Amino acid sequence: MSLKDHPILRAARGEKTDYTPIWIMRQAGRYSERYRRIRAKAGSFMELCRNPELAAEVTLIPIEEIGVDAAILFSDILVPVEKMGIEVKFVEGKGPVLSPKVETADDARRLKVPEPEKDLPYVLETIQLIKRRLTDRPLIGFSGAPFTLASYMLEGGSSKNYINAKSAMWNSPELWDTLMGKLVDTVVEYLSAQIEAGVDLVQIFDSWMGVLSREDYERFVFPYTEKVVKALKERHPSVPIIHFGVNASHLLEVNNRLPVDVIGLDWKTEIPFALERIDKSIQGNLDPVALFADEKTITEKVEKILTEGLKARGHIFNLGHGILPPTDPAKARFLVETVHKLSRELRT
Ligand code: CP3
Repeated sequence: MSLKDHPILRAARGEKTDYTPIWIMRQAGRYSERYRRIRAKAGSFMELCRNPELAAEVTLIPIEEIGVDAAILFSDILVPVEKMGIEVKFVEGKGPVLSPKVETADDARRLKVPEPEKDLPYVLETIQLIKRRLTDRPLIGFSGAPFTLASYMLEGGSSKNYINAKSAMWNSPELWDTLMGKLVDTVVEYLSAQIEAGVDLVQIFDSWMGVLSREDYERFVFPYTEKVVKALKERHPSVPIIHFGVNASHLLEVNNRLPVDVIGLDWKTEIPFALERIDKSIQGNLDPVALFADEKTITEKVEKILTEGLKARGHIFNLGHGILPPTDPAKARFLVETVHKLSRELRT
């Protein structure tokens, strides 16, 4: 089978598949003991991201450990942000800390648009290493979307209420447009370089777009994301794009206008509700906490999602957000097996 005919790529394009393919957001993460060991060896999380040999090894863990249908590049959405001129640190128990924050239009003008070959060679090298070792399954590349990246840069880290981000959006048009414009260029160059290095499809994480009203999203964010997607489709028309965000069911109709192939759904978005609003392939959407329930409960929830997913143009199974660190890897393996088995049965 040519990689181009892999079920993940077929489902993204809306073609028939023999089963529903699955990968899991954060599949190479702290729930895996092997991941924790390699991370300890690397030093910090950011050092692990900058080490192609170890990052490639981590990327491939979930293929072996839980049997997912695709690998996702091991890195972080904040890796390119560091090369724009902002220091990124991961503080235990606090998450990412960025400094200095972007506060004025001048700060935004000073930001660099990274040149991936020169500034992020380790990411491209990691992709090349993975592609040499992984020949039977697709590799997913990814980037944060302009809004989610801007929110980290304006807030200096994770945020509850997005006060800086929303104030900049409403009150500082020059700051907003300069920052979002730099991020559009950064994301387009970064994802293009990942594709040229070998990734088979890409996911754009606009994880926090759901904090915006539909009106604000449409006016202040959508045009920038649309620019990113259009530029990528122009340069790499055959590479599928997945667009994902959390708590974003009120934005489905708007996002259906993006020329993406797949829309990722969080677990609170019911699939029939989504299918009334979008005509793209879908990805999702089991509650990550379901993996703490017993196998019977997991099976029931999976069967419902698979059955509803059969009505979509195409369906890639996933959790509705990242797998949680305390998850038992055996449950993740059970999920993958169950999705494969039930989705074959439901097709006969
Ligand atoms: O999915 C994968 O397995 C690929 C690797 C990946 C990571 N982060 C690894 C990671 C991907 C695709 C991301 C994306 C990412 N990073 C997003 C978008 C996805 C989402 O969750 O909505 C966001 C918002 C980030 C920013 C980020 N990175 C945060 C908020 C944190 C801290 C979380 C925490 O629990 O401490 C990270 C760190 C991070 N990124 C870890 C991993 C495996 C944990 C690092 C560690 O402690 O080992």
